[in-house]
Amino acid sequence: MALELVRPESMERITTPELAEAYIADQIEGLKAQIGDKKVLLALSGGVDSSVVAAMLIKAVGDQLVCVHVNHGLLRKGEPEQVIEVFRNQLKANLIYVDATDRFLDKLAGVEDPEQKRHIIGEEFIDVFAEEARKLEGVDFLAQGTIWPDILESEAGVKAHHNAGGLPEDIASRFELCEPVRILFKDEVRMVGKALGLPDNMVYRQPFPGPGLGVRCPGAITRDRLEAVRESDAILREEFAKNGLEGKVWQYFTVVPDFKSTGVTDGKRTFNWPCIIRAINTTDVMEVTVEHLEPAFIDHLVKRITTEVPGINRVLFDYTPKPPATVEYE
Ligand code: XMP
Repeated sequence: MALELVRPESMERITTPELAEAYIADQIEGLKAQIGDKKVLLALSGGVDSSVVAAMLIKAVGDQLVCVHVNHGLLRKGEPEQVIEVFRNQLKANLIYVDATDRFLDKLAGVEDPEQKRHIIGEEFIDVFAEEARKLEGVDFLAQGTIWPDILESEAGVKAHHNAGGLPEDIASRFELCEPVRILFKDEVRMVGKALGLPDNMVYRQPFPGPGLGVRCPGAITRDRLEAVRESDAILREEFAKNGLEGKVWQYFTVVPDFKSTGVTDGKRTFNWPCIIRAINTTDVMEVTVEHLEPAFIDHLVKRITTEVPGINRVLFDYTPKPPATVEYE
């Protein structure tokens, strides 16, 4: 049974640390009353919403919370390590870490169709999570990082949201839902995350699609091309942070398409992939403009990516707004 929480029209927008603290205190009291001495399960991706829910539940019910972090092999460099460091080591959460990389990549091998790739990743994620849930005894609650725009979009029929609805019936029927950020907008979730003491790079991180780097490795995913996406993305993020662009540009990432071109290194012919850089700004993701980076900064990115990322001999910059292009390539 889901709690019928609605955002009261009179609810003040959470714009200050004080309002965030008050919201947290209120929710913690509510969560304690709802959960009592029972256990609660959470799929913790490391994204803003599930991280804030985890931090709030740790404050409310401590080790009655069981977090499951599924690494589908399509996460960015350092992400699973950060989830383990922040939640298991620092916040002392009860965290089950499942490295399902081989399982996902084996299922995706040879699959070229973007929709089929997304479908496989979504289904496999539910299977892995359900397997972990079945192993646990005495868990009565399922926590989710549903936020207010998710509810509005679901009601408007824009997109279906991953919630207990995606889980098999034997799992879904076992749990009562617990959604402590359900009535918040994204900026409010970030404000609450900051007040809970989560690291800035977790609270203010750029949007990252559920299928992860899988949609930035167009066509059939191979491990070597996926590594090229992961390494070039890590360089891009490091350089944006160093140059004061983190938090200023809405979203930036790399894509490694499945074609090769001729190059030359140390006088020898190479035949490798290009790496595409995409850096965009938007307010509503329906319309997107391109961030025009400084030429010297682009030169530096090209130098680092072509010398440090195996398999890349060329860097391209995507100058296309949305429309006509979408943000992601698949
Ligand atoms: P598109 O490619 O549709 O992307 O222009 C718009 C924004 O949505 C993000 N995106 C996703 N986010 N699950 C998500 O949570 C997804 O499957 C997904 N696909 C795209 C994308 O990164 C961009 O910010």
